[in-house]
Amino acid sequence: MKKSVFITGATSGIGRAATVEFASHDYDVFATYRSETDRHTLEAIANVHPIQMDVTVPADLDRAYATVAAKVGARGLYAVLNNAGTTYSAPFEFADEQRARQVMEVNLMAPYRITQKFIPLLVAHNRDNKVKARVVNIASWAGLMSAPFIGFYNASKFALIGLTESMFYDLRLLDIHTVLAIPGLTKTPLLAKTTGDLTATLSAMPEAGRARYQNLLDHYANLGASSASNSMLARPEQLARKLHRIVEKPKPRYKNYLGADANFIDNVMTRLPWAARVAMNTRMYKLDSRTPETQALPLPATA
Ligand SMILES: NC(=O)c1ccc[n+]([C@@H]2O[C@H](COP(=O)([O-])OP(=O)(O)OC[C@H]3O[C@@H](n4cnc5c(N)ncnc54)[C@H](OP(=O)(O)O)[C@@H]3O)[C@@H](O)[C@H]2O)c1
Repeated sequence: MKKSVFITGATSGIGRAATVEFASHDYDVFATYRSETDRHTLEAIANVHPIQMDVTVPADLDRAYATVAAKVGARGLYAVLNNAGTTYSAPFEFADEQRARQVMEVNLMAPYRITQKFIPLLVAHNRDNKVKARVVNIASWAGLMSAPFIGFYNASKFALIGLTESMFYDLRLLDIHTVLAIPGLTKTPLLAKTTGDLTATLSAMPEAGRARYQNLLDHYANLGASSASNSMLARPEQLARKLHRIVEKPKPRYKNYLGADANFIDNVMTRLPWAARVAMNTRMYKLDSRTPETQALPLPATA
C-alpha cells in the first residue's frame, strides 16, 4: 500500500530535500508551502501534493487537514514530519518579544497543534496496518546546548525536545511512534537567515547598544558565514536520506542524530564541567573582547 507523509516547511533546506526523497520512494507527500512561487516548484515533483499553510495559522491547519483527509480517505496517514522552523538572533538585552513569541509559535506550538490535529488520520492508518504510524519532530543541536544571541531559538528547541519526550508516552497509548530527530549544523538557507537577522537587530538598536554589541555580533556573523561555507557541513539531502531510513523502520528508535556534531554535543559537550563549557564558548564567541565603549556605557536609569 502506498504510504503518505505530511511535511511542513517543504520549500527549503531539510524539508525540501525530505520532500524530494520521500516522493522518489513513491510516498504520497503532502508538502506545505507559503508562497505561490513555491507551490509551482513543488507541483512539478511527482507524488507531491502542495498544501498552502502558515504553521502558525489555525485556519490553514484546518484546511490542510481537510485536504489530506479527503485525499487519503480510510487508509489514513502514515507519518507527520514537523520540520518547519525559524530562527531569531539578538542579544538578550534587545530581544524583541514579538519575534521571540513567533519563534516559539513556529518551532514549538506548531508541532503540537499539527500533530494533535492529525491524530485521527494516524489512528486510521493503524487500523489496517501492522507497521504503525509515526510523528517525527525535527529538533536541533540548539535544543541540547545553548549559545549566545539565539536564546529564543534555544528555548524553542529545548522545549520541543521536552514536549517530544512526553508525546512519546502519550502517543504510544494510541500506537503512534514518536521520533526525535536532531540535526547538527546543516548547509541550508537557515544559516544566512540567522546572519541577516543580526544586521536587522543591530540597526534597530540604540547607539549605546550598537557600541556594546557590534563587534561581538560581527564576529558571530563571521562564524556563521565560515560555518556555512565549510565543505564538511552536512547537506540537507544527506539528512533527508537518514530521515527516510528512520521513517521506514517498522519500530523507529526514539532519539536519532542527523549529524555527527549533534551526537558529539549531546554525548560529549553537555557532559563537560560547566567551567569548561563556559570557557570554550567564551573563546569561540570572543565574549571577553568587550570594547572600551562597552565599559563606558552609562548604568541603566533606575525607577
Ligand atoms: N540548518 C541547520 O543548521 C539546522 C540545524 C538544526 C536544526 N535545524 C532545523 O531543521 C528544520 C529545517 O530547517 P532548515 O535548515 O531546512 O531551514 P530553512 O531552509 O530556513 O527552511 C525552513 C522551512 O520552514 C518554513 N517555515 C518557516 N516559518 C514558517 C511558518 N510560519 N509557516 C510555515 N512554514 C514556515 C520555511 O518556509 P518559507 O520558505 O515559506 O519561509 C521553510 O520551508 C528547522 O526546524 C530547523 O530549526 C536546522
